[in-house]
Amino acid sequence: MNLLITGGAGFIGSHVVRLFVESYPTYNIFNLDALTYAGNLQNLRDVESRPNYTFLKGDITDASFLEQLFAEHRFDAVVHLAAESHVDRSIAGPMAFVQTNVMGTVNLLEACRRAWAGDYAGKLFYHVSTDEVYGSLGENGLFTEQTPYDPRSPYSASKAASDHFIRAWHHTYGLPVKLSNCSNNYGPNHFPEKLIPLAIHNIKEGRPVPVYGKGENVRDWLYVLDHARAIDAIFHRGKVGETYNVGGVNEWRNLDLIELLCDVMDENLGREPGESRKLITFVKDRAGHDARYAIDSSKLMKELGWKPSVTFEQGLKKTVDWYLANGAWLEEVTSGHYQQYYARQYGER
Ligand code: NAD
Ligand code: TYD
Repeated sequence: MNLLITGGAGFIGSHVVRLFVESYPTYNIFNLDALTYAGNLQNLRDVESRPNYTFLKGDITDASFLEQLFAEHRFDAVVHLAAESHVDRSIAGPMAFVQTNVMGTVNLLEACRRAWAGDYAGKLFYHVSTDEVYGSLGENGLFTEQTPYDPRSPYSASKAASDHFIRAWHHTYGLPVKLSNCSNNYGPNHFPEKLIPLAIHNIKEGRPVPVYGKGENVRDWLYVLDHARAIDAIFHRGKVGETYNVGGVNEWRNLDLIELLCDVMDENLGREPGESRKLITFVKDRAGHDARYAIDSSKLMKELGWKPSVTFEQGLKKTVDWYLANGAWLEEVTSGHYQQYYARQYGER
């Protein structure tokens, strides 16, 4: 099996690459990544010399590059994670999201359609998507695979568009596809522009921890390795043409989550209980901020026997331990461009 994983140098992609490289030594695994600000080959140092792993630097927005790549490597399957992934950046600059998430995905679909030329035996295109395509929930209810799409940010709109194209290529051209829509991930190697790693970084440095609005928005959080395990299960055992929701059954109000994180950090850093909570700072709300995401993963649980392997308390502890043990990683990714991003997003503080 020649397996192409896109976006493998990013947060979730690096965990997926590692899981597949270690679990399937007979697969040739190719990691295609443009190494944007979010891609970091340090995330894969421990697997880079494995004989079944190859890194390919390249951009999915470049259709002719993809065509050559597919001609050269004869991929049997694609697991597509490459994307622009941060809502705040999509508000500040939506076009990169249209280019990579929409055009890049269609380029990949076309590369597969051409390379496979109607002979789809043993072929698969697996698209990794987000629960944000379903929109925003009120106090009750869960997103199911049947929930109508209602994306509300440039990021979620671009992911929703990519999902539609995946299904269109399945229905129109017969391309064998699978999709999954997952809730918010957290864990090691998460870029510190997203809530949990940003808060860990700021608490560690004694800097204000920005909470948007009143901190009442709710997200469902899943440990990143459990998402990688779900992708493995769906890739190997999911039904072609189907969609699977993936979530942690783990809803948190942002403020409660940040308070818990402050307490875990106090314990780890030997600070007085309550010390880090003083860093919590309410800042201007995100434009169009979705109120609540919550996901029903019962299809995945019942059909494929998947369930989260760690509790939130365990996962958060593992995450904090990782960030505190990997100060060099955090320092490297928060130098240079990160500081310019931070100043633009939060003002100088
Ligand atoms: P990330 O931003 O950490 O990583 C994205 C990776 O894609 C980076 O390595 C980047 O270099 C690469 N990339 C970006 N543009 C590219 C291009 N044009 N060509 C090739 N490579 C490119 O993202 P993530 O959080 O790991 O998310 C991975 C996927 O999972 C995305 O498709 C995202 O929509 C989806 N997802 C994320 C979450 C989450 O909580 N982070 C939840 C559900 C689904
Ligand atoms: P984020 O990690 O950006 O993920 P998403 O927007 O995809 O859910 O944000 C998670 C939640 O935390 C979301 O409700 C926005 C909020 N948030 C803050 O309150 N402060 C911050 O500095 C960031 C980055 C996010």
